[in-house]
Amino acid sequence: TWTTEAFIEEAIREVRARVGDKKVLLALSGGVDSSTLAFLLHRAIGDQLTCMFIDQGFMRKEEPQRLLRLFQEQFHIPVNYVDGQERFLKQLQGITDPEEKRKRIGAEFIRVFEEESQRLGPFEYLAQGTLYPDVIESANTNVDPVTGERIAVKIKSHHNVGGLPKNLRFKLVEPLRKLFKDEVRQLGQSLGLPEEIVRRHPFPGPGLAIRIIGEVTKERLEILRDADMIVRQEINRSGYYPKLWQAFAVLLPDVRSVGVMGDKRTYTYPVVLRLVTSEDGMTADWARVPYDLLATISNRIVNEVPGVNRVVYDITSKPPGTIEWE
Ligand code: XMP
Repeated sequence: TWTTEAFIEEAIREVRARVGDKKVLLALSGGVDSSTLAFLLHRAIGDQLTCMFIDQGFMRKEEPQRLLRLFQEQFHIPVNYVDGQERFLKQLQGITDPEEKRKRIGAEFIRVFEEESQRLGPFEYLAQGTLYPDVIESANTNVDPVTGERIAVKIKSHHNVGGLPKNLRFKLVEPLRKLFKDEVRQLGQSLGLPEEIVRRHPFPGPGLAIRIIGEVTKERLEILRDADMIVRQEINRSGYYPKLWQAFAVLLPDVRSVGVMGDKRTYTYPVVLRLVTSEDGMTADWARVPYDLLATISNRIVNEVPGVNRVVYDITSKPPGTIEWE
């Protein structure tokens, strides 16, 4: 049977044997996989590990700051923060097609990653939070034809990235490659990761950029961030967070509707509230939460977020819908 303590011991031995005294680079995303990986590697190789966090500007309100505080102040794991907000936003100017957004974000991610790894490096190894299901999915495709070793042709699929440039061919360190998600959560917990990360809902790599249905702008991101924050606060407060697979807001910036606030007419954007239950994200259902919870979220968003005057609840299951709107 699987025990985390035995796993940790063994993984630390393996990692040390594999990397020796070489430097290892890790791209943190804030999710449970890369965070657990960072904790494990930090324990195994200390300051041979360099953590990098690329802020694309599409994270939820205050998330980048929380992540940095958590790692650096609470756990004393240094993180190189890369502020990519302006350049990622520039890539999305005028872009409305969902797949084009993903492609551009992925390509920019590679560029930033390349620049930063050269600036901070050189690195012999790249650590990836590859899990067992990812290994199966990409069987054979990531193997060096000469050495038979798994190589980095992909920075985790959720960055939606086709391939790393040839001169960036790191050797991989993938100590989570035999684990399922639940085991990673257990491992993270044993390593001291806080509940807020261990139990965190999935969050897409392109983040809020695919929750603005249309062109992404700074102003729209701000509106969505504020609405999304209220959703999170109320879902947490109500105790529903652990019962849901995901809970978030979507902004429809190309739709405006009429409303009335005080004695003034408003003509602004709607926000879609998406609360879903799911086992694995492959199928999902809209969550039957209490009407009062919906009412609180709706009232708060309309009253507190300028630019939003209407909240609608998405009652579409997957299939035929998807969880995200893009
Ligand atoms: P859909 O919308 O396809 O989403 O029902 C299923 C799960 O995948 C997440 N998702 C993404 N995650 N990059 C990611 O890392 C993406 O481009 C992406 N698109 C969807 C979604 O949040 C849900 O958990």
